[in-house]
Amino acid sequence: MTIKIAPSILSADFANLGAQVAAVEAGGAEYLHIDVMDGHFVPNITIGPLVVAALRERSRMVFDTHLMIEAPDKYILDFIQAGADLITVHQEACVHLHRTLSLIKEKGARAGVALNPATPWQSLSCILPMVDLVLVMSVNPGFGGQKFIAGALPKIEALARYRQAQGLHYEIQVDGGVNRTTASQVVQAGADVLVAGSALFGTSDPRAEVAQLRAAALT
Ligand code: DX5
Ligand code: ZN
Repeated sequence: MTIKIAPSILSADFANLGAQVAAVEAGGAEYLHIDVMDGHFVPNITIGPLVVAALRERSRMVFDTHLMIEAPDKYILDFIQAGADLITVHQEACVHLHRTLSLIKEKGARAGVALNPATPWQSLSCILPMVDLVLVMSVNPGFGGQKFIAGALPKIEALARYRQAQGLHYEIQVDGGVNRTTASQVVQAGADVLVAGSALFGTSDPRAEVAQLRAAALT
């Protein structure tokens, strides 16, 4: 089985962002998870396209942009032009989700949809054939370092079963509270992409920790 590790820079040392990103890339991380928050959809404000563009010059990882913002359509092109490879929007923030996902794909990026802990996966059943990635939130979005919500596990299992039954190809990503202990549970449930912020950047050696987390996930 292969999984991908997506370090979340939300927990990185922002005064040393370039070096921290280089460390996890050298450690073998496949995706770089970039948490974009607007102070409206979630109670926090973080990163915009300028930071994405600056990092793009330094990294070849897949730039996985998690938009926790209202009305994401307004900013999709900006993030793609800044270098995002994958744009994930929240189901709860998109009244016209089909239109939003179509826009992401038209502009040349892969399209993901995130689900808050209280949102059932079935809300996506009509749209899953056009989705490249489903992000299952295992914390309430807004902050790093929160405790894993176990209710994410049956949601991951159901999305994996549905994918198999329907012959679909979306990746299943888990975000929030993923660490050496919870990683194997989410992988056993069927997750392909593991986001980890504090479990990587909260250690003294994020580079080495990427491999440790991967090993723990596969045990
Ligand atoms: C939370 C963000 C996460 C966050 C995860 O709203 O979407 O990506 O950085 O942080 P950890 O891994 O520390 O729970
Ligand atoms: Zn995230």
